[in-house]
Amino acid sequence: MTEDKMLNTEQQRYLEELSDLLRIPSVSTLSQNRGDVRTAAHWVADDLTRSGIENVRLIETEGPQGHPLVYGDWLHAEGQPTILIYGHYDVQPPDPLNEWKTPPFEPSLRDGNLFARGAADDKGQLFCHLKSVERLMKEDGKLPVNVRFLIEGEEEVGGEGIEYYVKKHPKELASDAVLISDGHMFADGLPTLDVGLRGMVYTEITVRGAAHDLHSGLYGGVAPNAINVLCYIVSKLKDLDGTIQVPGFYDDVAEVTAEERSQWAKLPFNEDEMREHEIGAKALTGEPGYSALERTWARPTLDANGIIGGFTGEGAKTVIAAIAKCKVSMRLVPNQQPKKIEAAFRQYVENLCPPYAEVNVEYIHGADPVLLPTDTPFMKAAMEALKEVFGKDTVLLRSGGSIPIVSLFDNVLNAPCVLMGFGLPDDNLHAPNEKMKLDNVFKGIDASARYLRLLGKD
Ligand code: BES
Ligand code: MN
Ligand code: MN
Repeated sequence: MTEDKMLNTEQQRYLEELSDLLRIPSVSTLSQNRGDVRTAAHWVADDLTRSGIENVRLIETEGPQGHPLVYGDWLHAEGQPTILIYGHYDVQPPDPLNEWKTPPFEPSLRDGNLFARGAADDKGQLFCHLKSVERLMKEDGKLPVNVRFLIEGEEEVGGEGIEYYVKKHPKELASDAVLISDGHMFADGLPTLDVGLRGMVYTEITVRGAAHDLHSGLYGGVAPNAINVLCYIVSKLKDLDGTIQVPGFYDDVAEVTAEERSQWAKLPFNEDEMREHEIGAKALTGEPGYSALERTWARPTLDANGIIGGFTGEGAKTVIAAIAKCKVSMRLVPNQQPKKIEAAFRQYVENLCPPYAEVNVEYIHGADPVLLPTDTPFMKAAMEALKEVFGKDTVLLRSGGSIPIVSLFDNVLNAPCVLMGFGLPDDNLHAPNEKMKLDNVFKGIDASARYLRLLGKD
């Protein structure tokens, strides 16, 4: 018997529908996939319409990518709160392709896991809310609360389009709380709510030396080498301990409270297991004096994400590169401000560049760090709903990832966010063989439905 034969009829349908969505290669950063991104937007919109959600439409955005938002609402639960459901239908590029056991856009069910790019980030988790609302509509012909959906198609490239839209149209989006499933659970079976996210400054450093590439024999010794200069700059950004060298970088960093620290210490976490099974390195890196969880959740960091320059083909070519580039991201924590960090970073990088070369720092995107209040009724109901479905007490923790729009929902809509994750630590987000545990999709649907029902009670 194949795995999918063990599912009931409804689960079988969920599997087929989610697989349909996962087959659409909606990679937001690649221009060759522009049409696919739009196809995925239509898929989400059509699904909402079939469920009985009203005013469903694609909203064109003004960001650099211009991928559409999908909006829909159902606002007939008089006297009940309005919940904005957010998610993203875009995905990361699937490369390196040769490391996938099955092709990234041909969903494959193995050992109870559905493998595909976007399975967990974020199509599978978004799907939980699409289907919970569909189920509630089917069961009752109405919803226990008012609901708005706002689903974006460029979260993975910084989310500028949704930012402009939310800033311009706060009234149309007026809501009491925002429900987001775009994170993960701390461990399999352990219900989790994220109360913190790191912020982001994403930059590209370009170094220019000579006017064009040069023979490294005829000019080596006199011509500036853009790669050498770039590597010198990058080497000065962070020391081997992981301490960032940009002056003023740590000025606004808020220390973790003793209470959070003691809650985190109780979590079932083993550094060695993380090192071996998730990371696969000889040792972990990072600032001394902070635990691995603190370093990923509550300390800022800086990483080079990619570097280009000179000759990278087969064999050797003796050449002095005129241009070299490096993409550098910084993850921020409360109360660091992206604009302030960007300015300090730019100044430092410019000072490091020797006079015979030129450096330019381009700001690509940014996001504010987030720390959510934990004592709202929306958070309490979420803890309750997850506990009912997973049969265990819900843990509150932070995540090292970023979701740019979250701080804006809080600031502009004045609506507290609830980050309910159904992915697992080994789901391979942004990596080859991304997957989502199918049972967590089903539990996610149950939890979302239970949550909306709890919020609808007087
Ligand atoms: N869903 C992730 C972020 C995430 C992962 C939050 C796990 C909590 C737990 C999101 O899609 C993502 O990858 N965000 C980017 C944002 C960036 C492009 C601004 C990130 O964190 O790199
Ligand atoms: Mn995501
Ligand atoms: Mn992502």
